[in-house]
Amino acid sequence: MAPDMGGKVAIVTGGAGGIGRATAALFRRHGARVALFDRDEAGLVTAAGSDADTITAVVDVTDASAVAAACARVEERLGRIDILVNVAGGGLPRTLDATPPADWDRIVALNLSAPFYLIQAVAPAMRRAGGGAVVTVSSLAALQISLNNGASYTSAKSGVLGLTRHAAFELARDRIRVNAVLPGPIMTPQMDAKIDDATREAIPRKVPLGRWLTPEEVAAPILFLCSDAASGCTGTHLVVDGGLHIGSPTDAATYFARRED
Ligand SMILES: NC(=O)c1ccc[n+]([C@@H]2O[C@H](COP(=O)([O-])OP(=O)(O)OC[C@H]3O[C@@H](n4cnc5c(N)ncnc54)[C@H](O)[C@@H]3O)[C@@H](O)[C@H]2O)c1
Repeated sequence: MAPDMGGKVAIVTGGAGGIGRATAALFRRHGARVALFDRDEAGLVTAAGSDADTITAVVDVTDASAVAAACARVEERLGRIDILVNVAGGGLPRTLDATPPADWDRIVALNLSAPFYLIQAVAPAMRRAGGGAVVTVSSLAALQISLNNGASYTSAKSGVLGLTRHAAFELARDRIRVNAVLPGPIMTPQMDAKIDDATREAIPRKVPLGRWLTPEEVAAPILFLCSDAASGCTGTHLVVDGGLHIGSPTDAATYFARRED
């Protein structure tokens, strides 16, 4: 049965980006009213499209007081907050040796502190609404390492799992569930613009499903975790990586080629 999000209000951060936009579109299709937060104003306008029920806020999610003010405006305008999806995030391709402390702080602020600010800001509104659901987008890097984004990203995305567990524990009695999604390689417009041809071709060889995943394939598990279908799930995470985390001494393409000999 398709989840019914009718009457629910969802905040999606990173709403102008690939996974955020796909998530917002899916929630809208299932009846939710959506508030998109992002620092990219033009991207927000495109993501909201002509949907009159979607509101947008240009907000830097690493600014705790701006986050609190934006969440208060959502409750004021849409009457409640039921769902928070922390999608805004990103990393820097730096080795440990080449990471100045300021870069480390920036990446940890974006990927770990910002979800904390948002959870803290929406929890009172969710209590007033009688409960809620939070999903934070971490990364497969939380279980392995990030080859592209360095130790700051790996550490922050790992920290998200601790935040998820702890917030889930503390908020459970308020009927607020808190979970995480760990994407593997997802082809978004930003990703497409950033990678070279070698990476574009290498990923399908490594991933057991044999391809890059789409943002919509991350949005669907997020919707599930926010829906009543996941009413028993809290403090946990779902890996969405085409099987990459299974690991293999060789890449998937080589493995299958050998078997076909
Ligand atoms: N694409 C992938 O392969 C992949 C894999 C694993 C995890 N992830 C995670 O998924 C999430 C979304 O990734 P995506 O691929 O859609 O990226 P994206 O770059 O398309 O979107 C990220 C969005 O976050 C916004 N943003 C960045 N910093 C911000 C800030 N300080 N305040 C407000 N908004 C800010 C950007 O403007 C952008 O719209 C990120 O947390 C990323 O780390 C992505």
